[in-house]
Amino acid sequence: MASITIRQLDESLKQQLRLRAASHGRSMEDEVRTILRAAAGATEATPVRASPRRNERVAVERPPPVSTPGLSVTRKRILLIIGGGIAAYKSLDLIRRLRERHMAVRCILTAAAQEFITPLSAGALAGERAFTDLFDAASELDVGHIRLARDTDAIVVAPATADLMAKMAGGHADDLASAVLLASNRPILIAPAMNPAMWAHGATQRNLAQLIHDGVVTIGPNAGEMAEAGEAGVGRMAEPLEIAAATEALFGEAGERPLAGKRVVVTSGPTHEPIDPVRYIANRSSGRQGHAIAAAAAAAGAAVTLVSGPVNIPDPPGVRIVKVESARAMFEAVEAALPADCAVFAAAVADWRVATPGREKIKKQKGKGPPPLALVENPDILATIAHRKTQRPPLVVGFAAETENVIQNAKVKLARKGCDWIVANDVSPETGIMGGESNTVHLVTADGVETWPSQSKDDVARALVAKIAGALTGDQA
Ligand code: C5P
Repeated sequence: MASITIRQLDESLKQQLRLRAASHGRSMEDEVRTILRAAAGATEATPVRASPRRNERVAVERPPPVSTPGLSVTRKRILLIIGGGIAAYKSLDLIRRLRERHMAVRCILTAAAQEFITPLSAGALAGERAFTDLFDAASELDVGHIRLARDTDAIVVAPATADLMAKMAGGHADDLASAVLLASNRPILIAPAMNPAMWAHGATQRNLAQLIHDGVVTIGPNAGEMAEAGEAGVGRMAEPLEIAAATEALFGEAGERPLAGKRVVVTSGPTHEPIDPVRYIANRSSGRQGHAIAAAAAAAGAAVTLVSGPVNIPDPPGVRIVKVESARAMFEAVEAALPADCAVFAAAVADWRVATPGREKIKKQKGKGPPPLALVENPDILATIAHRKTQRPPLVVGFAAETENVIQNAKVKLARKGCDWIVANDVSPETGIMGGESNTVHLVTADGVETWPSQSKDDVARALVAKIAGALTGDQA
């Protein structure tokens, strides 16, 4: 048996051993003992004796692997790019969540990220040193930005700051993170995180649209409290568990991700049409069906933009969500999300809006009765998009919520709206469909009518997405 000291190990092994020891809170010598004991079949419960003197000899036949035991050789490799934002602390948890899912993680920290967390903590959790510099001779000779970009199965950017998104959208390559992103031909998932005003800014939204167009998958941001006192809105980074799940979803088999590379726009929920600053016209739509379709399309690999009216359900994972109030705002958001391969109009858009909403709250006036409310028609989003000459999505799907003659009315609607399919359902109060959990639908197309069994809205969504995938890929079910 050969006998060597830790000093004699080569640099990269030493570095890996150092990180592994740091992550376990042990000295390097104790770490070697633990590894040897595990290799010899001893249990972790065996007490670790006090640290030996520096350079004490430890017997090593062959340095053991430092990867977590039990991981298969097919485990996916993730390059996690950590941007500079307060959410960077959550990325440390993300490293653990990814490793729990048997993914190997390698980290790059931008200069700004290092203001929030250290390469040592990221490296210790990942079990491999974290990379930081584009012009670091050691790492360029050792790994190099092109190899970093290629020696991975996917890249996750979390937090994706407004600046990092802008660099990605503009094709910049002036630091290690942006150079790797530009050099990569692997799937990229971004988890944006920023102040709500920065997220809502036209520049960020343009960059986001460009990134989605380029095939980048997004998760979040979520709505909620910001780190800055008193700030709230959309901009919180998605939770590590959500990001880990979205990362895993990147690797579905080709058959499980039939919409990979396709862009899908979905409308969902009701619209609110103002009467005055405090009152509005609305309807009972919960958004459940539209949100489920957006989630199912994202799970099938599509880049999804969900344009949602006001709802009280969580944002579906893995989709870009644009929140609107009125029909007109929904229309603008849909137009901005084009071009797309498919548009699904599941929103219950108010047909009318108040012609001139009160600028102030309309007062009750004694003896005068209720004020007259003149209504005007809202734009028909579905019909307008379906009749477009340019940028009409190749597949346009409408919904028809009917309370009588469901199929007959749906057929008329299919022709009148100019769409390709209508998903029709009976929303009479006794069905409990409006706002409920399940749905019974008929798929009305030029080829005829399919009546689907009563099933959950998630199952309806999956079945519809499977049909959409069949139509877009020519692989009809
Ligand atoms: O005409 P009706 O409201 O029944 O049509 C329902 C279908 O049309 C749904 O797909 C709905 O999302 C869409 N729609 C629309 N814009 C409107 C009204 C309905 O996109 N203003």
